[in-house]
Amino acid sequence: MSASVFVGYATRYGSTQEVADAVGAALRECGLQVKVGLMKNVHSLDGYDAVVLGAPLYIGSWPGDARHFLAEHQAALAGRPVGIFALGPLTRDEAEMKGTHEQLDKELAKYPSLKPVDVVLFAGKFDPKTLRFPDSLLTVLPASPLHAKPASDERDWTAIRAWAGQLAAKLSPAKSG
Ligand SMILES: Cc1cc2nc3c(=O)[nH]c(=O)nc-3n(C[C@H](O)[C@H](O)[C@H](O)COP(=O)(O)O)c2cc1C
Repeated sequence: MSASVFVGYATRYGSTQEVADAVGAALRECGLQVKVGLMKNVHSLDGYDAVVLGAPLYIGSWPGDARHFLAEHQAALAGRPVGIFALGPLTRDEAEMKGTHEQLDKELAKYPSLKPVDVVLFAGKFDPKTLRFPDSLLTVLPASPLHAKPASDERDWTAIRAWAGQLAAKLSPAKSG
């Protein structure tokens, strides 16, 4: 029987949701049963064999609902294969990706029982016109790295689908016989 997978995401402006949907679709193409949903709407992982969690980085951290999910479901996550993706940098610049990956690793290290089978960082999407307060402040403060940054969408859909495709085997129960 194919594994049942929960792909949970957190998002402020929707770009991580779109990535979660693409990851879910790629896993389905690999034959897995997939439910994609907001982490904050899921209160139990019973019935799922594996979990994929995705969230954006904001000021170096995952959003509160993602951190809350990791803390609340520590035991359930420790007993299942878990894949992790994060969205962050606004460019695919190697040094920026590396620095942000370190931020992500630091964030995940706060949950020592979490032993992901795979962790990946993708570049994100930014549109200053859609930002709500207080995020919008960061586009006007001259000292902010987001000051006067133009809109961009650096999500690499080919890499996202490829990552999910190779993740599928790591999420499936080992075949016996
Ligand atoms: C106010 C603000 C702060 C951000 N801080 C970071 C950060 O610390 N590190 C990073 O890599 N990306 C950062 N980003 C980029 C977001 O992670 C990126 O835009 C992501 O695609 C947003 O995901 P969402 O649309 O699902 O909320 C920031 C973006 C905004 C608007």
